[in-house]
Amino acid sequence: MNRRFKKNMKGMIQMKTIYLIGFMGSGKSQVGASLQRNYNLSFIDTDNYIEKKYSKDIPTIFKEEGEDQFRVYEIETLKNLKDYGVIATGGGIVEREENYQTMKENGTTIYLKTSFDAIMMRLKYDQSRPLWNQSIEERRSLYEKRKKKYTSFSDEVVCTDTLTVEEISKAIMKLTQKE
Ligand code: S3P
Repeated sequence: MNRRFKKNMKGMIQMKTIYLIGFMGSGKSQVGASLQRNYNLSFIDTDNYIEKKYSKDIPTIFKEEGEDQFRVYEIETLKNLKDYGVIATGGGIVEREENYQTMKENGTTIYLKTSFDAIMMRLKYDQSRPLWNQSIEERRSLYEKRKKKYTSFSDEVVCTDTLTVEEISKAIMKLTQKE
């Protein structure tokens, strides 16, 4: 069967979900929106979903409930959101092993690989991400630690540094259509 499709529990053919993973600032949300726009795929972003569901923005969840609780919300969200064409995940989705299982069972996981320097440029003025709001040494060490996890969680990798959002979407469609 074409890699874009799977059989659901009733034996019916259904499209596999494309999960976008990668570090903060790697463009997961923009790429998801582009896939929705250009290929008519239903799209959701786990961070947005969590913010709406709990009526709090992410920095407030981190501050009031802590990172561990946020990770619990992320695990539940990923398990609940199964019928989407594309799901953009938060950069920390790889922090919990069970998310690997959820993505593996339900779709194809694409790692948007972006260099640390490119991320530094993109998130230069960003203050909305609690785990980015720290010293450059801590940012770099989180980046290095995560890089290995993204690789081991993913089915395919797209290096994004020199590509536009539209080019990345095209590359993803090509990868997921391979037999
Ligand atoms: C996080 C990344 C963020 C958000 C939260 C934690 C992380 O998502 O989920 O701030 O642990 O890397 P983005 O990758 O969309 O910035």
